[in-house]
Amino acid sequence: MTDIRQTGLVSYLLSNRAFMAQAVQQAVDTLDLAGRRRLLDAGTGAGGALPPLALAGGPDALVLGVDAHHDALTLADTHATEKGVASQVSFKEADLLDVLGEAGAAGGTFDAIWASDVVWPGNFEDPAEAVALMAQALAPDGTLAIFTSNYYQSMFLPGHSQLQNKLRMASELNWGIPGSGPTHYERHVHWVLASGLREVGLRVIPRIGFPADSDPSVRPYLEKVVFPELLEAARSAGQKAGMSAEEVREAEELMSPGPRYVLDDPGYYVVHPTLLVTGVR
Ligand SMILES: C[S@@+](CC[C@H](N)C(=O)[O-])C[C@H]1O[C@@H](n2cnc3c(N)ncnc32)[C@H](O)[C@@H]1O
Repeated sequence: MTDIRQTGLVSYLLSNRAFMAQAVQQAVDTLDLAGRRRLLDAGTGAGGALPPLALAGGPDALVLGVDAHHDALTLADTHATEKGVASQVSFKEADLLDVLGEAGAAGGTFDAIWASDVVWPGNFEDPAEAVALMAQALAPDGTLAIFTSNYYQSMFLPGHSQLQNKLRMASELNWGIPGSGPTHYERHVHWVLASGLREVGLRVIPRIGFPADSDPSVRPYLEKVVFPELLEAARSAGQKAGMSAEEVREAEELMSPGPRYVLDDPGYYVVHPTLLVTGVR
């Protein structure tokens, strides 16, 4: 398995966890999890959802955090301890599809499944199948909650829409993910409907950063996660996405410290319209 300390995944997971914490809390608050005892955090990463899930379920709730990366689970374990919910949390280093398959074969063992930024074609060859397995892993009346930070619909460069659109395409091309079709990353609602769950719902929970330095999680998220990702995409796939050399240079200037750095513009803001898709077995 790749050492995620070398790939930068740890830095991503920690910055993303801090930036998304408010939206994750708001999303979990909408789920009405009181009294749900067997909860799954599917692809827990750095464990940002574990405290809200454990607290929402109540004192008898037990949350299983599953992730394929050992180092992600170490971060999640530390986070659960620091947030005082360690006694309500356990972990499993495994492929999510195996865990879901086992729960489904047992007739459905989870009262709620939370899956944040995990179901997309970069992780699963067939995301619809992963969601179908989640539905089957639920106990009767169990709730599925698929949360996506909705990266590609976010405003990272307000006032530079054409550049941002091209960067978005460059990023998609760089990840090798399709621009449409049955595995497209915006099909969570379709996948949940196809899984046969009822009461399918969709909410938008905006995460806003303005002024950029009013919240200590905004700058690290942009500087450690977003800007490096977009700049790497511009360099690797910008031309294929229709960017001229001048536009690649402009992206560099806007997203790197210097006279045009967007984070030094008092009018700068970031908007992440996160999505929560839910269904009930
Ligand atoms: C983008 S991160 C999201 C982490 C966390 N849920 C969050 O929202 O911050 C995706 C996580 O899912 C895990 N993951 C991806 N595919 C997986 C699989 N098939 N089985 C288990 N974990 C998986 C990755 O290791 C990573 O920690």
